[in-house]
Amino acid sequence: MAGTYRIEVMHGVNLNMLGRRDPEHYGTLTLMQLEQRISEFARELDLEVRFLQTNAESEFVEHLHGLPDLADGLILNPGAWTHYSWAIRDALEIAALPAVEVHLSDVKAREQWRRVSVIEELCVASVCGKGPDGYREALGMLRAELEKARA
Ligand code: DQA
Repeated sequence: MAGTYRIEVMHGVNLNMLGRRDPEHYGTLTLMQLEQRISEFARELDLEVRFLQTNAESEFVEHLHGLPDLADGLILNPGAWTHYSWAIRDALEIAALPAVEVHLSDVKAREQWRRVSVIEELCVASVCGKGPDGYREALGMLRAELEKARA
């Protein structure tokens, strides 16, 4: 039954600066407004969401360590860590939860260094370049994944 799935939405480094970052890539919403939007999407999909944003890689990693007790699945946008943090990649592997990677901007069509994702292979899917709507898509994918696992 849906409605019982707990989804953690984790934002990494510099995502607290949304609203002050290049609007061409990241839009104009602040992180708080983005989280409100995500909460609405979650309500429509009958999912529970909780949020974390941090600029400290150790906090991000430690949060992943504790996540199996708190959540059924996760959406993560680690910001620039996506492209090089093997520590986050390993922590995600340890968490062993269904995860979807989301980026507001189209990382595959930007600088070369942004095209690499060290977490991609551990995620059910990656959603890039769709702005806030990418989170709706990610929530839908996670719900489908969790329902498949439960069936
Ligand atoms: C981002 C893309 C990253 O390359 C960048 O470092 C960010 C945000 C995105 O949401 O588009 O901080 O993850």
